[in-house]
Amino acid sequence: MNAPELETKLPKVGTTIFSLMSALAAKHRAVNLGQGFPDFDCDPKLIDAVSVAMQSGHNQYPLMAGNPRLRERVSAKFESIHGVRYDAVNEITITSGATQAILSAILAVVRAGDEVIVLEPCYDSYMPNIELAGGVAVPVHLKHGTFEPDFDAIAKAITPKTRAIIVNTPHNPSGRTWTRTHWQTLADIIASRDIFVISDEVYEHMVFDGKPHESAVCVPSLRDRTFVISSFGKTFHVTGWKIGTVCAPAPLTAEFRKVHQYTVFTANSAMQEGIASYLADPKPYLELPAFYQAKRDRFVAALASTPLRALACEGSYFVCANYEDVPTLRDLNERECAEWMTREIGVTPIPVSAFYSTPTEQRTIRFCFAKKDATLDEAIKRISSLV
Ligand SMILES: Cc1ncc(COP(=O)(O)O)c(C=O)c1O
Repeated sequence: MNAPELETKLPKVGTTIFSLMSALAAKHRAVNLGQGFPDFDCDPKLIDAVSVAMQSGHNQYPLMAGNPRLRERVSAKFESIHGVRYDAVNEITITSGATQAILSAILAVVRAGDEVIVLEPCYDSYMPNIELAGGVAVPVHLKHGTFEPDFDAIAKAITPKTRAIIVNTPHNPSGRTWTRTHWQTLADIIASRDIFVISDEVYEHMVFDGKPHESAVCVPSLRDRTFVISSFGKTFHVTGWKIGTVCAPAPLTAEFRKVHQYTVFTANSAMQEGIASYLADPKPYLELPAFYQAKRDRFVAALASTPLRALACEGSYFVCANYEDVPTLRDLNERECAEWMTREIGVTPIPVSAFYSTPTEQRTIRFCFAKKDATLDEAIKRISSLV
C-alpha cells in the first residue's frame, strides 16, 4: 500500500533564509553576521551553577509550571525592574525558550478563524504559529525606512475577528524599541476590544543609551490582557539552552498552562535550577546593556566609514543598514545583496525582506553584532572594501 498523502499544514514554510545564508557563508568562508546568536561563551559561573544542579539531583521532571525557586526569582526581578508584580505560583511559567512560549500563548488564545495582527518585519515563527492555531495572520507593516509602528494602519486592521496582536520590543530585525507612548497608544486603540497582547520581549536587557526597556505592562491597563515573553537564552548568551518565561495574569496563565502541559509539559530541570542560582546576582543582566552597547558602537562607528548607512539601533543585538548609496549594490534586491556580499567581500548579512510575508524591498540588510570584537573587526575590514 502506498503511504497516505500528507497535505502540508504550512504550505508557505520552506528552508529558512538563515539556513540558506549560513550554508553560503560556510561555502565562501564569510564572516557570518546573519544568524542571531553569540559566537562567544557564557559566564563560566552559569555553567558551574547548572553542573551543581545536575550533581545535586535536579535531573527528573520539575513542576509543570517550572522550578518554584526560578519563578520566585523571575517575579522579584520583574518587579524590581518594572515595578509590576507577577505571582510566582499563578502568573509565571517557565518554558522551553521563547519560541515555545509564543506558540503556546497563540494556541491558548487563538481559535479557528480568529485574526491576529502581526507587525512586519517580524520573527519568523509568528505567522506559522498562528496558522497552526487555525487563525489568520493579518500583517501590518512597520513604517518603511524607520520601522516605527503605524498606529493608523493597526487601527484600520482591527475587525470584530481580531483576537490578538503580537508586538516585539526591542525589535528583531530593526533594533527599534517601543516607548511608553507607543504602548499607551496601542492600549487606547484596543481598550474597548477583546484583544490580547503577546509581547515578545526577548531582548529586554539589550536597550541602549541609558534608556529603560519599556515592557508592555508599563501601561497598567495592558497587564490584564498581555503575555510578556522573555528568554534566558538571549540574556545569558545560551541560546541553545532554550529556557524562556511567560508572565501573564492568572486567568491567562491558567489557559496557557493547559497548552504547555500537553505540548512540552515542562522545561529541563538542571538549566532551571542552575539559572535560579545564577539569578541571585543581578549584575550579569544589569551590565548587559553596556556590554552590547559597546559592540553596537564599535560596529556602527566602523560602518560610518563605509558607504553603507546604518539605521537607528536602540536595542537588541541587530543593526540594519541601507545600501541605496552603494553603486555596486543599489540595483540588487536584498537577497541578491546579501548573497553578493557573502560571495564577493566575505561578510554575510540577512535580507530584511526575509522577515515579511509578501515581497517588500527597502534596500536594507540586517547584521548581528552579538559577536567577539575580533569577529566584528574582521567583518568591518572586509566591508570597507565596498565602494
Ligand atoms: C524576536 C524573537 N523572539 C523569540 C526568539 C526565540 O527565543 P528562544 O531562543 O528563547 O526561543 C528570537 C530568537 O531569535 C527572536 O529574535
